Amino acid sequence: MFITFEGGEGSGKSVQSKLLYDFLIEEGYGVLLTREPGGTPLAEDVRRIVLTGEPEKMSTLTETLLYLAARADHWSSVIKPALDANKIVICDRFHDSTLVYQGMCKGVAEDFLNAALREISGGRKPDRTYLLDIAPQIGITRAFSRKNNETRFENMDMAFHEQVRAGFLKLAAAEPERFLTLDGSQPVETVQEKIKQDITAVLARGR
Ligand code: TMP
Repeated sequence: MFITFEGGEGSGKSVQSKLLYDFLIEEGYGVLLTREPGGTPLAEDVRRIVLTGEPEKMSTLTETLLYLAARADHWSSVIKPALDANKIVICDRFHDSTLVYQGMCKGVAEDFLNAALREISGGRKPDRTYLLDIAPQIGITRAFSRKNNETRFENMDMAFHEQVRAGFLKLAAAEPERFLTLDGSQPVETVQEKIKQDITAVLARGR
């Protein structure tokens, strides 16, 4: 089972993915928790390149290819082996982020991004995606309070973040069976409880 978390900046994905990981481990499952961009030494290097420093340092195409390069390495050396070993893989962001940030918001062709996914994962998409939806004003405030040096996207203007939010909601509406959209402004425990209930039902029906 391949599970992803998606959402805008400060939507609580990282916290919720860790809580889901802890829950599934307690339930006795073999679980891998990972993130994008990242999850391998090479992909973590790419993360540093794309998420720190000056936004204008690279073109959208260059940035896109870097995210895809990171994903190719992550998929073949971490995600696929774990899925093949029957583990549950929880990934904080995946292809949907590329479709939204680079595709819908920055104009990279969707066909190109989907073709890249076919090369990377044989077109394998997540089985379940939790979209944590939050008003950018709230999310950005939270993201800034994390105080790391990954300011690249968080510095972009509100209109961009509104576009990101709308993009994710559009993807979720197009694939209601894969996505569960949750209100990311609710307390952590409330969101966690909904995810636990959902994953329990999803695992019970074997998918
Ligand atoms: P996060 O790990 O805090 O969610 O931040 C990762 C940032 O990388 C976030 O701004 C979204 C961005 N991103 C893309 O633009 N495209 C992608 O394909 C991925 C995986 C992330």
